Amino acid sequence: MHPFDEITVEQLRAAGSTKWTLFPDSIGAFIAEMDFGVPPEVADVVREAADTRAMGYLPAAERTAARRATAQWLGRSFDWHLPEGNVFLLPDVLSGLRIAIQRFTPPGSPVIVPTPAYMPFLTVIPAQDREVVEVPSLLDADGRYRLDLDGIDAAFAAGAGLLVLCNPWNPVGRVLTREELTDLAAVVDRHGGRVFAEEIHAPLLLDEVPHVPYASLDARTAGHTITAVAASKGWNVPGLKCGQMVLSNDADVAAFAPYATDAGDTVGLLGARAAIAAYTHGQGWLDDVVGYLRGNRDLLAELVAEIPGIRLSPVEGTYIAWLDCRELDLPGGPARFFRREAGVALTDGTTCGTAGEGFARLIFAMPRPILRQALEQMRDAVLARA
Ligand SMILES: Cc1ncc(COP(=O)(O)O)c(C=O)c1O
Repeated sequence: MHPFDEITVEQLRAAGSTKWTLFPDSIGAFIAEMDFGVPPEVADVVREAADTRAMGYLPAAERTAARRATAQWLGRSFDWHLPEGNVFLLPDVLSGLRIAIQRFTPPGSPVIVPTPAYMPFLTVIPAQDREVVEVPSLLDADGRYRLDLDGIDAAFAAGAGLLVLCNPWNPVGRVLTREELTDLAAVVDRHGGRVFAEEIHAPLLLDEVPHVPYASLDARTAGHTITAVAASKGWNVPGLKCGQMVLSNDADVAAFAPYATDAGDTVGLLGARAAIAAYTHGQGWLDDVVGYLRGNRDLLAELVAEIPGIRLSPVEGTYIAWLDCRELDLPGGPARFFRREAGVALTDGTTCGTAGEGFARLIFAMPRPILRQALEQMRDAVLARA
């Protein structure tokens, strides 16, 4: 037994997250949050801030400390060594996408999004008055996705200025290999394009495949990439609002310098302190969580195999499962079916792009007995239909 096994649905609903309160009659598996709380070191800094009434603006020294903690974590974890001056604090990684579009692409140029994609990419980009070019990815027979490099090549050739690269890949669970990233870099470089490397799930690696920060590959990728990371997913603190944008060349650092203070002023004290605590002292907690998630991933694979008509893409990283339900041809899409008939709230694949039609996204960072219950309810709903 792991202590996470003992967390109950009642406790989770009482804690009041959207995941557990939006559909009070369903198991919440649609928002990328974990049900496992936060590292004690993070809880301590928040508690201490309350005890000392520290609720003011983020002092410059602590901003610097958060930038340094991020740079040190990147160096330790991924052998990517950058000065702390290349790290900029932002409230979240999607703010980094807005900045990448506004500051680092030609005005009006379209933005490429390989799909299936994290849903907000498809709405944040149009909100910046830019066209999204969806490039559906290639699905292999074993359920693994690969980037469609020819499609990406054509989209850059047609005038796109930026590619959004989500790795580890929400929602399909891939961790792209060095070879795949190198092949992509050649395409981007050929067109003088830019990449927004969205690496928020980098701490959550479930296999032996290492995470390679795209910008760390070589001088070309360092030159054309804007990276975003955060402690939000790995250490479960998205509500505290502190992400980090990492620039990997001097020209970009100089270009962004006039806007850096303005952007950094949007970050709160608690978010910065939580990021420092997570990056500096959170490895032990993270290792435990990743071990638990591996067990959940394996259980999920077993239980999905018992449901006729559903296939699971192999999950190499993240705590997100991508379920191919196309064979079931569920009326109204899988998310609607499983919420109504199984009491499990999933994300419908169509919100991840047109390539997601007939698919659903399931967040499996939940106590294992609840995960088992969710999958059993889904299985019974499918069997009842037959
Ligand atoms: C790939 C990806 N990017 C971004 C986010 C949101 O991050 P933020 O709140 O830092 O914008 C999530 C959250 O689920 C995510 O999975």
